[in-house]
Amino acid sequence: MATGGTINLGVIGLGRGLMLALPALIAYPAIRLVAAADPRPVARERFAAEFGARAYADWAELLADPAIDAVYIAAPHQFHAEQAVAAARAGKHVLVEKPMALSLDDCRAMAGAAQQAGTVLVTGPSHSFDAPVRHAAALIASGAVGAPRLITALNYTDFLFRPRRPEELDSAQGGGVVLSQAAHQIDIARLLAGSPLRSVRAVTGDWDAARPSEGAYAALLDFANGCAATLTYSGYARFDSDALQGGTGEFGQPKDPAAHATARRRIAALSPGEEIAAKLARAYGGASPALPPAPVANEQFGLVLISCERADLRLMPDGVWTYADDGARFTPLPPPPAAQYGAIAAFAEACRGGPLPPQAGSWGIDTVKACLALSRSAHERREIRIEPEAPSA
Ligand SMILES: NC(=O)c1ccc[n+]([C@@H]2O[C@H](COP(=O)([O-])OP(=O)(O)OC[C@H]3O[C@@H](n4cnc5c(N)ncnc54)[C@H](O)[C@@H]3O)[C@@H](O)[C@H]2O)c1
Repeated sequence: MATGGTINLGVIGLGRGLMLALPALIAYPAIRLVAAADPRPVARERFAAEFGARAYADWAELLADPAIDAVYIAAPHQFHAEQAVAAARAGKHVLVEKPMALSLDDCRAMAGAAQQAGTVLVTGPSHSFDAPVRHAAALIASGAVGAPRLITALNYTDFLFRPRRPEELDSAQGGGVVLSQAAHQIDIARLLAGSPLRSVRAVTGDWDAARPSEGAYAALLDFANGCAATLTYSGYARFDSDALQGGTGEFGQPKDPAAHATARRRIAALSPGEEIAAKLARAYGGASPALPPAPVANEQFGLVLISCERADLRLMPDGVWTYADDGARFTPLPPPPAAQYGAIAAFAEACRGGPLPPQAGSWGIDTVKACLALSRSAHERREIRIEPEAPSA
């Protein structure tokens, strides 16, 4: 594609992940949705009709289409590696959903294929692309508040009680919250710390016999510059930490405070077959595929506090608080045109010849490395040391 030109984008996997990114993909002016691949005929037919796009049952056929410049891989975790490697070899830029892949070998193969092909590889959308996170990271990098010392991140959600595919609740297959949710908190902490991760010590929780999986964790991250991060996550929560974020939901939407309590009751009433149907109903072409509402604020992933040498920063969906010796000030940050717009824009501009975001190339490998170390630390009850990946892009 020409530098600065329009990106002909193909989507692989028309599920819930796509539903969340779709408003941004539609809103971004330089992206044209031209193709999709998914085994579900209902999703393909709907996509072809809605976007006048080509729709393939087999993703390899999509990659053989020379008119496609880039792909957004939003298929289940276990397919990311094979699809991303094949996409790079076909000369396509890749935006791959988090987690990048399930093993470090797979992640390295993906980064290596992109490097060899000279194509862009970005892992996301993750919440490290949220405007308040990027604003705070830029403030820290500018030196205005001194070095980061301590990052506190906390998120209490109903993750375990949303409709799931069986592998999403099987930690051995990348299910549970570690690869799916710690990937967000680790990305946020890495971007804010601005330094390689040295070690992880963590405890995970598997608290619901009906949904056995790693559904909660507490982790201590030690960065090479001396910054530490504590990450706390519960996907079993009866308390909804969005209450600490002005009642704003994960995607910047207003949230009904009473809705949180219903997730457990709804899921308990479903048979396994009904749960799979409920998951598909929320996917593209499903019975209730509601697009996320237009955001009233930025996306957010729970409480994030950063203690720096000369100020404490608190991220909110509508801006960033800076608490300094001379008082507190608030920097407002307007809502994006659509949820996940920051990640889509960063990927699109990299494809068009612009700067690569930090989340490009080998970034995703280090996040998966940290996720796997978190799980291993919990199982072996010890600190796991981490060697950062050599940059590949
Ligand atoms: N960034 C986020 O906030 C976010 C949110 C949700 C999901 N995701 C990610 O999106 C990915 C998919 O999760 P989901 O919740 O959308 O799942 P899902 O079950 O809702 O959708 C998966 C889709 O992929 C299709 N599919 C299955 N096998 C395929 C294959 N081999 N090739 C192409 N398509 C295939 C399915 O038919 C379905 O349409 C996961 O990696 C998940 O982590 C990210």
